[in-house]
Amino acid sequence: MSELSATIQSADWKSEKHAPMIDAPAEVRAGEVFTATIHLGAAIAHPNTPQHHIAWMALYYLPAGGRQAIELARAEFAAHGASMTGAPGPAVSHPRFSADVQLAEGGTLQALAYCNLHGLWQSSQPIAVVP
Ligand SMILES: [Fe+2]
Repeated sequence: MSELSATIQSADWKSEKHAPMIDAPAEVRAGEVFTATIHLGAAIAHPNTPQHHIAWMALYYLPAGGRQAIELARAEFAAHGASMTGAPGPAVSHPRFSADVQLAEGGTLQALAYCNLHGLWQSSQPIAVVP
């Protein structure tokens, strides 16, 4: 298994805490601005500590019939409760972000999440675009 793509895991977010969830409409109008929210841990919380956390998530769009995904947005989560004393620190950033998106044609929204211990996880869902 030397290809990066072979290491990307996927699962139902309801039963797997690493699977990113895409919260976006199933159908939008062409050119309409809509909000896509990517989050993780809605059903099963993922740890958020300096030792074990979600470091980043990204949202992609694959046009119907397309061969290459287009990156729409990404977010890095840099605070995980670290402190100089070892006691829980005063700041934690949670794995959730939103992006306002506009599409001209239907396709698939894809999300990637990276856990510093458990690697890359993906999810996807179709989105229809009507005139
Ligand atoms: Fe993890």
